[in-house]
Amino acid sequence: MSSSTLTVTDNRTGKTYDVPIEDGTVRAMDFRQMKTGTDDFGLMLYDPAFMNTASCRSSITYIDGDRGILEYRGYPIEQLAENCTFLEVAYLILFGELPTQTQLDHWVYEITHHTMLHETTKKFMESFRYGSHPMTMLISTVAALSTVYPCATNVHDPASRLLQIKRLIAKMPSIAAMSYRHSLGFPYVYPDNELSYTENFMNMLWKMVEPKYAANPVLARALEVLFILHADHEQNCGSSVMRAVGSSLASPYLAIASAASALSGPLHGGANEEVIRMLDEIDSKADIPAYVESVKRGKRKLMGFGHRVYKNFDPRATLIKKIAEQVFGVTGQNPKLEIALELERIALQDDYFISRKLYPNVDFYSGLIYQAIGFKPEMFTVLFAIPRTVGWLAQWQEMIVDPAQKIARPRQIYTGSRQRQVVPIAERDAVEVTA
Ligand code: SDX
Repeated sequence: MSSSTLTVTDNRTGKTYDVPIEDGTVRAMDFRQMKTGTDDFGLMLYDPAFMNTASCRSSITYIDGDRGILEYRGYPIEQLAENCTFLEVAYLILFGELPTQTQLDHWVYEITHHTMLHETTKKFMESFRYGSHPMTMLISTVAALSTVYPCATNVHDPASRLLQIKRLIAKMPSIAAMSYRHSLGFPYVYPDNELSYTENFMNMLWKMVEPKYAANPVLARALEVLFILHADHEQNCGSSVMRAVGSSLASPYLAIASAASALSGPLHGGANEEVIRMLDEIDSKADIPAYVESVKRGKRKLMGFGHRVYKNFDPRATLIKKIAEQVFGVTGQNPKLEIALELERIALQDDYFISRKLYPNVDFYSGLIYQAIGFKPEMFTVLFAIPRTVGWLAQWQEMIVDPAQKIARPRQIYTGSRQRQVVPIAERDAVEVTA
């Protein structure tokens, strides 16, 4: 039986090293010993964008990109989407086990009774221009909550961590709804503790002058399942930022604001908004071939397609297509669906996409549903951030309690000048510089 080691010969010195292989990885620090002399720092591993680097050990989410498998704490996403509520799945992701009814009732009570926001938050929100992007308002307001809860920096205190986790999960929909109402100039709606997590979110978004908001049960369940599908996705860009910012022991409110900032980018969670803008640009099915050609020429990306991990169908996209049918049964079909389906059909037959293993991801169809339910495209990434708060907090907590983790601080390959001499400004020559 061959041993689980990597034997490396450094041809610069002729020395050979045996490096242990564990869990399909080698430790980068085991390469530091490989030097050409006493003043040599030792070998580092160079991996831009961490294409092939494991940053942690985690038991939260399992993804098999080749088989299109996604599991939270070992449960297939399909089963969770079919059988659970969002707060039930949030409990699973955070604590590792599905709750009993008693545990769930207590958890729901706790989250429900943390949905209110400090009144100063309303005044903070009112300082935004009415046309401000809701995602930017959400990010700024979450960061501002760190001033309301300064004790949140007690990150090594389990009780304090749990209190901030409940507050953040509970308050994200309240902040999101406030940013939406602010953008329309509507009065804010306070939480209704008699409603479920998603029904209350819809209440805070859309209640007008009726005495009691009544959510459409089909739309409320669709939103619930969409929240479940977006809750966590292992070491994606946003979660990596959450871990990195959290590793300096910063407030979890500031870490969540940082993770949400990463999510807002069009290559990440911002893609759902870009998909709708892309479908708006493709006026009719007749325009699709020319659009696809422009993508193949590198003029633009096919938003909602491709994934760093999934080289097969994103299982969430498959489930989201099913939700679309249920939602459109209530709202009427989104007219852009036909264009999206034709775009997918053409792309999946084209070697450019097949050879690069580009399939629809979680963002390709979600925006069509959000739009049909009544959300503006600017709200789509906010709808991603609300459930992903659960995943970010689970990843943060796992990092905080992991004895192998410390402050994140990558190294670099230095390519700049060395030991230059300062010349008096009067003697300097103008050098053309570019950003
Ligand atoms: C999310 O990581 C996660 O888990 C993220 C996420 C989560 O739940 O947290 O799943 C959520 O962010 C989903 C992804 C949403 N983003 C988009 O839909 C934007 C469009 N997609 C691409 O930008 C891209 O596919 C990424 C960013 C998603 C992945 O990029 P990679 O892994 O860095 O791949 P790449 O850019 O190196 O692409 C490889 C090749 C390139 O072509 P060549 O240089 O080899 O010729 O594929 C091409 C790319 O140009 N390509 C695309 C494409 N995506 C990749 N070409 C056209 N359209 C695309 N969408």
